[in-house]
Amino acid sequence: MRRAVCPGSFDPVTHGHLDIVGRAAQLFDEVVVAVGVNSSKKRLFTPEERMAMLERACRPWDNVRVDSFGGLLTDFCRDHDVQAIVKGLRAVSDFDYELQMAQMNASLTDVETVFVPTSPEWSFLASSLVKEVASFGGDVSGLVPDFVHEALSARLGERDGQTGPGP
Ligand code: PNS
Repeated sequence: MRRAVCPGSFDPVTHGHLDIVGRAAQLFDEVVVAVGVNSSKKRLFTPEERMAMLERACRPWDNVRVDSFGGLLTDFCRDHDVQAIVKGLRAVSDFDYELQMAQMNASLTDVETVFVPTSPEWSFLASSLVKEVASFGGDVSGLVPDFVHEALSARLGERDGQTGPGP
């Protein structure tokens, strides 16, 4: 059984992430999409919300499951018998940091990192940009699944309600 992990923050999942997950699902027997939980980072969605959105978005693939991890990714790989880390590369600008992480992870364990080039239609896509554009009222409906778009609009609406202009 060849098992891979697609790790990320997924705050929230985008079509760019799903492009990589779907292609990893064709390359490996099983793919674990693992939500990195880092309580020191401020996120729009809780880990449970991010996992629930991923579970729904990954339903089309029977060999994909969703999990979460807190510590080192290499520890997660060891504990879940994962042989490969799959990362999407959108552009050369991703490469420096991803190479550094792949080499650090290789120094900690024998897990292999496999880079998959992002499909050109999603090469500009990042969760952080989706959130920024949506927060200013831009249309991001084509960049995330419909139910993610609804959750994003609702969460940003709640947030604006809390931090909106005072009296
Ligand atoms: O979606 P992101 O924010 O690019 O995901 C980054 C993530 C979660 C994959 C990365 O930060 C990670 O692997 N964190 C786990 C902690 C760890 O193993 N750090 C050492 C990496 S060399």
